[in-house]
Amino acid sequence: MDLIQHIESQRESHLNELKEFLRIPSVSAKSEHKKDIEQAARWVAEKLRAAGLEKVEITPTQMHPLVYGESLRAPGKPTILLYGHYDVQPAEPLDLWTSAPFEPEVRGGNLFGRGTADDKGQVHIHLKALEALRAVHGHLPINVKVMIEGEEEVGSVSLWDFVSRNRERLRADALVVSDTSMLAKGVPSITYGLRGLNYYEIAITGPAQDLHSGVFGGAVPNPLTILSETIAKLHDRDFRVTVPGFYDDVAKIPREERKALHSLPWKEKEFRRTVGAPGLCGEKGFSIVEQLWIRPTLELNGIWGGYTGEGAKTVIPSKAHAKLSTRLVPNQDPKKIARLVERHIRKLLPKTVTHTFEVLSTGKPWVAPYTHPVFQKALHALEAGFGKKAVFIREGGSIPFVTQMHDTFRVPCVLLGFGLPDENAHAPDEHIALDNYYGGIKAVALFYEELAA
Ligand code: BES
Ligand code: MN
Ligand code: MN
Repeated sequence: MDLIQHIESQRESHLNELKEFLRIPSVSAKSEHKKDIEQAARWVAEKLRAAGLEKVEITPTQMHPLVYGESLRAPGKPTILLYGHYDVQPAEPLDLWTSAPFEPEVRGGNLFGRGTADDKGQVHIHLKALEALRAVHGHLPINVKVMIEGEEEVGSVSLWDFVSRNRERLRADALVVSDTSMLAKGVPSITYGLRGLNYYEIAITGPAQDLHSGVFGGAVPNPLTILSETIAKLHDRDFRVTVPGFYDDVAKIPREERKALHSLPWKEKEFRRTVGAPGLCGEKGFSIVEQLWIRPTLELNGIWGGYTGEGAKTVIPSKAHAKLSTRLVPNQDPKKIARLVERHIRKLLPKTVTHTFEVLSTGKPWVAPYTHPVFQKALHALEAGFGKKAVFIREGGSIPFVTQMHDTFRVPCVLLGFGLPDENAHAPDEHIALDNYYGGIKAVALFYEELAA
């Protein structure tokens, strides 16, 4: 049987197996899911063995286990390092899901469930592609090293330690990752740039304890008001970030690249529909694609404090909190940006409150040329697997590990994304288009086959 026929013949069982994976609530952010995380790691290890990988190991870390396996039985053929994550984001708010997050369900050509697109579905694509290659060839035609981690959604805390301790072992000719999106349905894409991410938490303290707002209001600082005012000052009217020096190191993109980005089949109407807001706003002077992919941003992710329960409570809260992040682009230095943001916020705050500023994580941006021959093979495989023209894109999301790998090993990083921007990653009703899931298996199997040729 040929490769594509083999994959076609397994549609039913592939889907059922993916559902099994999705039923494990491997939420990395919450300690109550520790057992589920471990179960998911074991599940991945078992499937790696089934796909013909050897030396499959589950390595415990400071936080969540990492699954590694390899097959190095194709002498003279290229070696790839495949990376993905089996952990998922929390499913809350649960009441906004049409079907339960950990009870996967197919509706209208999409598979719904937490992790379908980010990233269990995409990891499964590779597991099944490898399995198909082994079934058809009798062995894996290229050398593969597979590393699937369980901490991506909480910042890959232990990953770098593992990589540093296994530098020689992890050496490869290319890094392959499927944890990104396609530009649009029917447009298979290779991502060659990602933004970096710094995450901050700030706490403001005013009065030593909560105060009656009638007895004290009018004469004392309200930390919630002060925090809101401060955050409101972080953008100007052109939606530029006001932090001095924030844009100093931002790379200008070459004219050629700008032209290429603007000739992509990207549809503003579709983007507006996905966003669902009455209007858009972004940094003045840049197109939406530029705002999303090549410009840095500052976002307020959460703000809390005071009374938020039912009814009214008259209170001046003692404390106010916020979570902020900055998406970074080449050549911004995350450490430098963290210092600039902290200094600016410190200067904006009045002397009537104290504050703490914590940098929860930093991650570098990544962009790399796609001139290495491996990219042409990937492009051909995507086009053969999907029967559509494939494109090179940048994206706004972050996978700090890709940058670290690229910096350390200087290898081409091939990001084959099979998600879609409107698939609700990190949100209720996350899903993956079955066309992309099945097309992905074919494309990846063809890619690996082409690498062996
Ligand atoms: N798979 C995403 C990253 C992504 C999404 C890249 C869409 C490109 C397009 C990943 O799981 C993720 O969510 N990353 C986080 C950062 C991480 C450090 C928690 C992100 O981008 O917010
Ligand atoms: Mn992901
Ligand atoms: Mn994610």
